[in-house]
Formats: sequence, structure tokens, C-alpha cells
Amino acid sequence: MALLHRSMLLAVLMSVLIRAIKVYGSDPELVTDFVSTDVTPMDGNFFTFTGFRGGLFPGPGEVDMKTAYVSDFPALQGLGISYALMCFQPGGILNLHFHPRGSKLIYVIEGTLTVGFVDSTDKLFNQTLQADDVFVVPKSMVHFMVNSDPHKKVNVIFAFSSANPGKVNLPSNLLRSGIPQLVLQKSFNVV
Ligand SMILES: *[C@@H]1O[C@H](CO)[C@@H](O)[C@H](O)[C@H]1NC(C)=O
Repeated sequence: MALLHRSMLLAVLMSVLIRAIKVYGSDPELVTDFVSTDVTPMDGNFFTFTGFRGGLFPGPGEVDMKTAYVSDFPALQGLGISYALMCFQPGGILNLHFHPRGSKLIYVIEGTLTVGFVDSTDKLFNQTLQADDVFVVPKSMVHFMVNSDPHKKVNVIFAFSSANPGKVNLPSNLLRSGIPQLVLQKSFNVV
């Protein structure tokens, strides 16, 4: 009985440890050409992603996104790169967020996009991007994007320096996670 308890405790400890180890801060380096899964036949299709076909159709004042992260495109495993496609309707806003594992390159295909990020000294770096402009948001910096044009949509491509950049959405991270009210009040200086 005691032995059973001990082995159960060990199993729980191991699973906690494995989970902790899996919270990477950046992509691990690959020691093979690529990481294949058990698809057959293993050919060009494995290295092809067709999920962006058909475009995006967000509602008024909204944003919509399609991702080609490693979970969508297994060939990216270990390569430290990924893509996302985003469309902003007029007035569309992408909430304050950051990506814990990857820097983000923003390439504006169509429209005018306002972007800003804040560094660890609380300094804001913002820009209004035209079509064909590229902006980089360094890894882990809090940022936002706005399409303030009342008539035209914005189409952008995001390229990440991670196969799984992750996204910490600040409003829900801070307000929906169960952080004690007192801590939030003190943090935001609201009485
Ligand atoms: C950056 O933000 C400041 C402060 O809100 C604003 O005055 C300025 O016009 C913005 N610059 C660009 C290029 O959007």
C-alpha cells in the first residue's frame, strides 16, 4: 500500500516536472534536418500549408486571423518560425497582448495600420504603417494594433521567430484569471 502511494506520488511529481520543463522561453535548437511525423508518404505535402486559402472575413469593427503555427503546420516543429494572416475591418482593434516566445514582423499588404509596443522602461514606440511597410515587435513586448481608417480594411502578414509564439492577452490575463481584487486595485492605483 505504502509502495503504491509512493509510486503514485512519483508519477504526479514527474508529470508536474515534465509540464514545467515544457514551458519554454524560446524554441529549442534542432539537431536533425527537420522533425517528421508518421505521415505516409513523406513528401512535399508535409512541407505545404494551405490553410490561408479563402482569405478572411471579419465582421464590422472586428479583426480575424488565420495561423500557421506548429499546431496547424507540423513541419514547423523545431524550425523557430511561423506565420499568421490578419484582417482588420475599419475600426478593428487588436487588444494589448504579447508573445512570450517570439518576435513578430508585421508586413502590411493593404491599408494603413497603427501599431505600438511598450518596452520595459514604459516607453511607447508607435508607428503608422502604409502598405508594403514592415515593423518589428521585439519578443515579449506588450503591443496593440488599430485600423483607424473609417472606410478601408487592413490586411497583414505576421512572421514569428517561434513555431509556437504563444499569446498573453493582457485584459483576460489580468482581469479573468482570479487575481485578488486588492492586488489589482493596488497595481492600477484604483481605490
Ligand atoms: C504615437 O503616439 C503619440 C502619442 O499618442 C501620437 O501623438 C503620435 O501621433 C503617434 N505617432 C504615430 C506615428 O502614430
